[in-house]
Amino acid sequence: MTALSPRPGSFQIDGTVGGGGHTLRILEAASPDGRVLGLDADPRAIERTGRRLAAYGDRVVLRNVNFEHLDAAAAETGFLPADGVLLDLGLSSFQLAEHDRGFSFRAEGPLDMRFDPTTGVPASDLIATLDEERLTRLFRDYGEEPDARRIARAIVRARTEAPIETADQLAAIVEAAVPYRRHASRPGRGSGRAAGRSSGHRSPARRPIHPATRVFQALRIAVNAELEVLPRALERAVEVLRPGGVLVVISYHSLEDRIVKRFLATERRGCVCPPEAPVCVCGHEPRLALVGGSKPQLPTETEVATNPRARSARLRAARRLAA
Ligand SMILES: C[S@@+](CC[C@H](N)C(=O)[O-])C[C@H]1O[C@@H](n2cnc3c(N)ncnc32)[C@H](O)[C@@H]1O
Repeated sequence: MTALSPRPGSFQIDGTVGGGGHTLRILEAASPDGRVLGLDADPRAIERTGRRLAAYGDRVVLRNVNFEHLDAAAAETGFLPADGVLLDLGLSSFQLAEHDRGFSFRAEGPLDMRFDPTTGVPASDLIATLDEERLTRLFRDYGEEPDARRIARAIVRARTEAPIETADQLAAIVEAAVPYRRHASRPGRGSGRAAGRSSGHRSPARRPIHPATRVFQALRIAVNAELEVLPRALERAVEVLRPGGVLVVISYHSLEDRIVKRFLATERRGCVCPPEAPVCVCGHEPRLALVGGSKPQLPTETEVATNPRARSARLRAARRLAA
């Protein structure tokens, strides 16, 4: 909220409206007439939040749109140019609690994991069809899972006996392949160390985590094409901001934080030609200035104590420069 500093009369875009918590805070801060365009790929989130924010009337406009199309949504709803864009990535607590979505490894429901259940393929399709090699790569690349091969092999073996259709079924297979204690007792491996290096904060992987955590993260990233959509959305966000407008991104794992960090680093620089180029041929102008320095903002200990899901959050913000 400090970075966005939404003012009365301003146009804000919450690209990940979710349960509407951030949108509500923005609406309050931008009283009496600031407006919010809230987007979410998940139709249920739009429906639920529409009811929650009904009292704000036309100060809030909600659309079931993937944030990679935020520019088109902003144009269609008259939110251009925008004063602020917020992306709070990943999944919401609501989605985790909805047992028919497959996001939680405690869920007995179908292993789906799509934010928008009307497009793409469910995670169960990937689990049923990818061979051992591709499953290994998926868990390694998107989950930074050190036991990717072992888990992939266990999945391929298990699915010859019975189809793997539910989230708890998959979690049990992973748990049997990689028992709880091994993961917890190997600090500094995989994503934990990478995260610690890139953000300079204590690695979440040093705490005990369920063995299926990284596998579920990898599947969710693949199913929703998260790492492909994010760079496109960042580009669109810069395009819709007015000079002086602010982009705020909250990420929850090192893969997406790395994309945000690199994007902001490129956009704050002038020339992006390779170092060996004798003269500048790119003509690139800086479009952003960092807000709050180059290190991400991390949650305080108090926040983590009251909201443990915030523990891996990293917030980065930047201000749009004049064209
Ligand atoms: C961490 S939650 C946001 C919570 C929200 N800030 C709040 O205050 O309740 C992330 C939300 O982003 C949505 N989401 C994830 N990827 C998306 C995308 N590419 N386009 C639009 N929404 C997306 C998810 O469906 C989820 O509802």
